[in-house]
Amino acid sequence: MDQVARQDVPYEGPERVLSGMQATGNLHLGNYLGALKRFVPLADEFETLYCIVDLHAITEWQEPRTLAANTRAVAAAYIAAGLDPERSIIFNQSQVPAHAELAWILSCVARIGWMNRMTQFKDKAGKDREKASLGLYNYPVLMAADILAYKATRVPVGEDQKQHLELARDIAQKFMNDYDVPGFFPLPEPLIGEQAARVMSLRDGTRKMSKSDASDMTRINLSDSDEDIAQKLKKARTDPEPVPSAAEELGRRPEAANLLAIHAALGDETIEAVMARHGGETFSAFKEAMTARAISVLAPIRERMKDLLADVPALDATLGEGAERARAIAAPTLAEAKRIVGFVG
Ligand code: TYM
Repeated sequence: MDQVARQDVPYEGPERVLSGMQATGNLHLGNYLGALKRFVPLADEFETLYCIVDLHAITEWQEPRTLAANTRAVAAAYIAAGLDPERSIIFNQSQVPAHAELAWILSCVARIGWMNRMTQFKDKAGKDREKASLGLYNYPVLMAADILAYKATRVPVGEDQKQHLELARDIAQKFMNDYDVPGFFPLPEPLIGEQAARVMSLRDGTRKMSKSDASDMTRINLSDSDEDIAQKLKKARTDPEPVPSAAEELGRRPEAANLLAIHAALGDETIEAVMARHGGETFSAFKEAMTARAISVLAPIRERMKDLLADVPALDATLGEGAERARAIAAPTLAEAKRIVGFVG
């Protein structure tokens, strides 16, 4: 999307990292490897804000009690995966009104033509687009507001969010052009991992692992028991050949490539290293190694999540404190954006 002329005025504010996850059900291995796991080391280097995007969640109807439970489950997953709420600001989006307020201003900047190109909207709305909520259509503008309210410069996400990040940059640039405020917003950079940026379904190596897939066998959830993990990996689709031993094979063997990528990302090693060790093995032998590794990584997270979810008042207090810190950062940006636009008061 290049229709917004770039201005050459650098943003001079501090580096800041923000990302978010929807509270719409179980987090899965794709969310973990593509995003959450990568949130943790960034907290050593930058000021970090990680939100649970409950406003985004209701773009598709959610049972209210389930939404609340899912919001807490994502908060628990953040902490269980290694985020420290003292160092990272962890909060749910609906407690910070600046997101929705800035989203309104930005939705008057974004163009309908840009929105019509959003592939995730097309996928989610499906054939009956007339029946999709207006919020689902506007979803990427709210995401831009999440980022720009904090003037975040870096956004760790999986590959599927790349187009939304490009839109956020275009919206930021157009706001600065329209109101002649160069350098007011940063142009946020997506941080997409080299590994596991797109974890695929366990049953179809050409489809993304997704919360919305009807079959639970397509994904490993962070809440899955050891037995579930073992069972799902055992049943994961493969091809009749042995485990690949050369990169050239991966392109034509999507399921094998996906299992190798998952195994590599879980163990912080390269696919080449995994192929050097396991290439030529049968998939049943490889899946045993995979199961052991997946359980060793995921079981401690699951158990920690359970402990955290057993103390709802403490978790809610953490979210409340995070929201207070987030409000303090977003408020001056929103106030300035309102002044720029010409609002009185
Ligand atoms: P969501 O909740 O769909 O996913 C959360 C994060 O997980 C990544 N992800 C994957 N990565 C690799 N393989 C997969 N199969 C996979 N599935 C999901 C996503 O890329 C994402 O990073 N729009 C966002 C939430 C959001 C946001 C934001 C993100 C709202 N505001 C501001 C960053 C900044 C979303 O729906 O993510």
